[in-house]
Amino acid sequence: MTDGSLSPFDLFGDWFAEAEASEPNEPTAMALATATADGRPSVRMVLLKKWDDRGFVFYTNLESRKGQEIAENPHAALCFHWKSLRKQIRIEGPLRPVPPEEADAYFASRARDSRIGAWASQQSRPMEGMFRLEREVAKYAAKFGLGEIPRPPFWSGFRLVPERIEFWHDRQFRLHDRQLFEREGDSWTVTQLFP
Ligand SMILES: Cc1cc2nc3c(=O)[nH]c(=O)nc-3n(C[C@H](O)[C@H](O)[C@H](O)COP(=O)(O)O)c2cc1C
Repeated sequence: MTDGSLSPFDLFGDWFAEAEASEPNEPTAMALATATADGRPSVRMVLLKKWDDRGFVFYTNLESRKGQEIAENPHAALCFHWKSLRKQIRIEGPLRPVPPEEADAYFASRARDSRIGAWASQQSRPMEGMFRLEREVAKYAAKFGLGEIPRPPFWSGFRLVPERIEFWHDRQFRLHDRQLFEREGDSWTVTQLFP
């Protein structure tokens, strides 16, 4: 079935609003799957910080494991599961770095301690003990004092530009409803899948 007027973003918006109203915590939490150049996958949770019809944005340390995988292979997938709603959304496509000014604006909106934490954490690399993290936090807190805290050069965001978005809704007796949207140029096709 094809219908150029159908947008998965309208449906995403409806479901996301429901999740924000009903989930007990972190309705923006989503699993992010990345893979190495030779296709070895890894997955972890991140928070959705912005979305619109350009894509879905999260922020992270660019030198982390995921950051390194993204640098060698830009293809990624996201998965939301809102347990209380019995709904799942899967999104796939390439990741594009968010423009520096957009990352700067988001970084500036974060709590001061979170901004210091971004400087202090060498995310995904071995750490001798919690004292090391505390020492790094103290170091950067002293360095920046009461002044501006710039965005670290190793910290930014990615926008997943969707090529496929699948909506899954629980139905009785495992006869779940699955709607797959696939991008074709500027429009989307929608296909129903067997559960
Ligand atoms: C609910 C939740 C939200 C998280 N949000 C983020 C996030 O937005 N960005 C991030 O870098 N890590 C986030 N984390 C931590 C990641 O899951 C992960 O531990 C970290 O990014 C290192 O992953 P990596 O070693 O694969 O790079 C979150 C963890 C949880 C449980």
